[in-house]
Amino acid sequence: MLITIEGIDGTGKSTLIRNLSETLRDLKPVITREPTSTWIGKQVRRGIAEEIDPVAEALLFTADHAAHIREVIRPALSEGKLVISDRYSDSRFAYQSVTLNAILPDARGWLDAIHRGWTIVPDRTYLLTIPVDNAMKRLSDDRDDTEHFEKADILSRVQKNYLMAAERDPERFVIIDAMLEKEKIGSFVAESIRQFVKQ
Ligand code: TYD
Repeated sequence: MLITIEGIDGTGKSTLIRNLSETLRDLKPVITREPTSTWIGKQVRRGIAEEIDPVAEALLFTADHAAHIREVIRPALSEGKLVISDRYSDSRFAYQSVTLNAILPDARGWLDAIHRGWTIVPDRTYLLTIPVDNAMKRLSDDRDDTEHFEKADILSRVQKNYLMAAERDPERFVIIDAMLEKEKIGSFVAESIRQFVKQ
């Protein structure tokens, strides 16, 4: 079973993942992330930092995803494991639809096309949502260096894309209010995952 956690920067995904890795320890989940920590993931981070061409950046994220599927996701799923990924293909659909918008007439269609045929669609996706002003505040409190995505206008378009994806696929998405207390979010998502894996 493949579960993904998504949301704009500043929604507290990392805290949630840390929480789940403890509370769901008995389910022995494989906890993973995109960008990965492999050499390809490192090139993705370098590409983000250097603000390379948006098409090149989108293809690097997608290359990292392909390797992630082959090396981590598919083997774990074939052994029947529970996989939880901090970001996954919906991050591309939400973020790169924005960064590619000025370059391609149909960025989302292009992103869909380059994933089609080999990606694995998650069974369930928890989408953390937050008013963009609150996300920006958390980001400026948390760190001094910001990535080029971390601007209010970009994040608000990214979040709209996430919400559109959730609207298109309400069976897969569960929307979570990231302004709730972190413990509350953690216990809700953990319980929801337990129910989901039992089905
Ligand atoms: P993030 O998970 O925030 O890493 P970190 O917490 O280490 O900074 O991911 C880095 C950035 O990359 C984040 O702003 C979201 C963006 N991103 C995309 O634009 N597309 C993608 O496909 C992925 C996986 C991430």
